[in-house]
Parts: sequence; C-alpha cells; structure tokens
Amino acid sequence: MLRRSASLPEKKYFKRILFTELEVKRRMGEMAVEIARDYRGKEMVIVGILKGSFMFFSDLVKLLYIHDIHPYIDFMILSSYGSSTTSSGKVKLDRDITTPLEGKWVLLVDDILDTGRTLSFAKFHLSRFNPMGVKTCVFLDKPSRRVVKIKADYRCFEIEDLFVVGYGLDWNNLFRDLPYVAVIDEKNLPPTNL
Ligand code: PRP
Repeated sequence: MLRRSASLPEKKYFKRILFTELEVKRRMGEMAVEIARDYRGKEMVIVGILKGSFMFFSDLVKLLYIHDIHPYIDFMILSSYGSSTTSSGKVKLDRDITTPLEGKWVLLVDDILDTGRTLSFAKFHLSRFNPMGVKTCVFLDKPSRRVVKIKADYRCFEIEDLFVVGYGLDWNNLFRDLPYVAVIDEKNLPPTNL
C-alpha cells in the first residue's frame, strides 16, 4: 500500500503556506452566509466542476446545510486542451450534468478562476438548459491571468499569479487533499513517479 504521508513530506516542496486551514474555514463560513441569504426560498442546483472543486464544493455544501439550504447536487467534468498559457486553450465537456435545470437557480462552483475559459464555458453551457439564473462561485480568483471577461459572483480569496496547490488544486494531480493552500517551490518539484 502506498503511504503517501511517509513518502511525501509535502511541506518541503512549498515556499510558504498562503492560507491555513483555519483561514480557509473562516472565509468559507462568511461566504456561506452570503450564499445562503441569496438562495433562501429558491430551488437551487449546485454544480461542481471536477476535479479541482471537490473539496471546496463539499465543504460549501456542508455549510449551506447548516444554514438550512438544501440544493440539488450535480457535477461536470471539463478538461482543457491546447496550451493553457496561450489563447488557443479550449475547454472540452467530458461529463455533463443530469439534473434538469429549468425553473431552478444554479450555482456553479470551481476551485480557481484563472484565464476564465473554464468558468465561462461552463456558465454558457448551463445557461442553455433554461435555468432561472446561473451564478458563479470560486475558491480562488487570479484576475491578473484573465483572458476571457468573466467575474465570479462569490469568491473566497483573490490571489496574485502564484502556483498554488491544496484544497483541490493540484500539481501533476498531487496535493489536492491538503486542507490548506500552499505556494509550490518551482525549483524543488516532487519526483513525478510518486
Ligand atoms: C483547473 C481548475 C479550473 C480551471 C481554471 O482545472 O480546476 O477548472 O483550471 O482555469 P481557467 O480559468 O484558465 O480555465 P484543470 O483543467 O487543471 O482540471 P482539474 O480541475 O481536474 O484540476
């Protein structure tokens, strides 16, 4: 059995912790209050974009439960192809939602808003199912990287153009499980065969 905690002492790959687990929890709590206020009394569908949103999504749903907001749950799987650093990057739908959206209020959830391609693709896609409205919610926002004009309706933190991992965000599919956000040390990356 692979014991990652033994083979990957993760912190040696990080320059610093950007947001601690406690900071994340506090900010999430504030954001959940806002969202609960805006969706109270509405039939709500919350749609997560996988894989990155899984932890943020799950924590958010649990907080909404505390506020007596009980949305339908669904997910989309999206992937990018082409270069992520040039305008040729395109988004592909690998798995669509199955929940009917007509007459419902949608909250689209992702871990990070970077160039904006993924979120704007997803928002446009969902709007074609005739919901009452589609709002967007991201854990991190990197406005300096934007290529497509889009703003998130709810966001936990705005960050500079740093390579961050944790809380769903990965480097080579690693570090998604961390309950905090760290800045990766690009001069000391982990071996890729972990
Ligand atoms: C990441 C992240 C967002 C997207 C944001 O997904 O989870 O969905 O990039 O970038 P953008 O604003 O430039 O479109 P990725 O394609 O890496 O897949 P993942 O969710 O499986 O990590």
